Amino acid sequence: MVKWTSAVGAAQLARQLGSQQDRPAGPGTRRPPAYRALADGIRLLVLEGRVPVAARLPAERELALALSVSRTTVAAAYEALRNEGFLESRRGAGSWTAVPAGNPLPARGLEPLPPEALGSLIDLGTAALPAPEPWLTRAVRGALEELPPYAHTHGDYPAGLPALRAMLAERYTARGIPTMPEQIMVTTGAMGAIDAICHLFAGRGERIAVESPSYANILQLMRAAGARLVPVAMAEGLTGWDLERWRQVLREAAPRLAYVVADFHNPTGALADEDQRRRLVELARSAGTVVVVDETMSELVLDEGTALPRPVCGFDPAGSTVITVGSASKAFWAGMRIGWVRAAPDVIRSLIAARAYADLGTPVLEQLAVNWLLSTGGWEQAVAQRCVQARENRDALVAAVRRELPDWEFEVPHGGLTLWVRTGGLSGSRLAEAGERAGVRVPSGPRFGVDGAFEGYVRLPFTVGGAVAQEAASRLAAAAHLVRTGAPGTTEPPRTFVA
Ligand SMILES: Cc1ncc(COP(=O)(O)O)c(C=O)c1O
Repeated sequence: MVKWTSAVGAAQLARQLGSQQDRPAGPGTRRPPAYRALADGIRLLVLEGRVPVAARLPAERELALALSVSRTTVAAAYEALRNEGFLESRRGAGSWTAVPAGNPLPARGLEPLPPEALGSLIDLGTAALPAPEPWLTRAVRGALEELPPYAHTHGDYPAGLPALRAMLAERYTARGIPTMPEQIMVTTGAMGAIDAICHLFAGRGERIAVESPSYANILQLMRAAGARLVPVAMAEGLTGWDLERWRQVLREAAPRLAYVVADFHNPTGALADEDQRRRLVELARSAGTVVVVDETMSELVLDEGTALPRPVCGFDPAGSTVITVGSASKAFWAGMRIGWVRAAPDVIRSLIAARAYADLGTPVLEQLAVNWLLSTGGWEQAVAQRCVQARENRDALVAAVRRELPDWEFEVPHGGLTLWVRTGGLSGSRLAEAGERAGVRVPSGPRFGVDGAFEGYVRLPFTVGGAVAQEAASRLAAAAHLVRTGAPGTTEPPRTFVA
């Protein structure tokens, strides 16, 4: 069986290798032989997720031509990559990228630690903020007042409370996307929504195209559902999607689903522009792929003057290509566990029918609380408060990391909750391990990749600010020192941090 799920052309690979050479080499670095430099370049592209795992590489002769090197150099580089487990080949089928078997890199999701388990650890593992009070308390009080008529029913609403479905539909309509309540299903968080969508559309062995990197827990959910993930590298910088790569993957892998975060992508913070949205929907429509658009981060606009482009579903008026997922978790509070799906009425009916065998419905009181917020204007005020807090945290964290770790590189996003950081050549997995000893919990890059990509990254969330952000950065610097020196367990246990 051929094991590749996408292909990288010779010209494209040559371009990507060329852009790597712009990076400064360390002081005193000696030039390796040409074949070794080529093998290292390809290995780095795989580890950074810029060339996906299971991508077919060009034939030796084509790559040699594109790079103006001898075919022997390419053959030797491919041979070295094969020996190191980064390439697999089969006669007649070509060569495709791989990550060595038994690679210790984590491929799991992110488990939130219960607050009481944290002790003195600073938790940068979860990208979710505390509730924006007093709005949570007000919303729950409002919900209690609305509760009596529902208390006389059995309380199971597999589609969601009619009042909340109507309210969410109205909000899409107000954003210029005409929507009926029959197009909405309330779910238990965005995770519940995407779980239901995966079960309906992408059974065992189906392909799902995902941005690379992407949100760790959704990747894990899809793996657990038995889907085969096909990574599509994000464009460089925070400029959204690389449509050429999407075109190629949709054409060659013909995935059943594509999962994307167009607004303030987790983990990179990228924002896809309007043209990218239009073109992705066109490409998906012609490939017969359903695009699941996760709008969990959409309302977290942190900088004035950042305008959100039209929602992706706005480019799919027939409603056959795009399914939208929303959530109260980032804009308001993850503890609500309220999410929703917007899709064509027949898709919603199928999702509702399938739900009877999962969780039957979402808690009524929380739905009433979100409905109270949306109908009183409390939502907008709470979101505004949340954005101020996230912006202050982002600015404090960015300044502290620049101070403590000047060789770490990142782009500062205009929204969302996450900073995607290249760790100056250090292993993100080792940093995560050392971080636990230095008193900071930080997720390593490979959790956000498919098959071990992004080893040289960590994700930092905008969940701590002020002095705690400074302390978190100092602890990260201590962890980086441990990794660099290979010193096992030499830091003092972290002192309790109160702020
Ligand atoms: C992009 C994205 N989707 C979904 C989720 C999970 O959302 P929920 O808490 O609504 O299940 C998160 C949480 O970090 C996220 O960042």
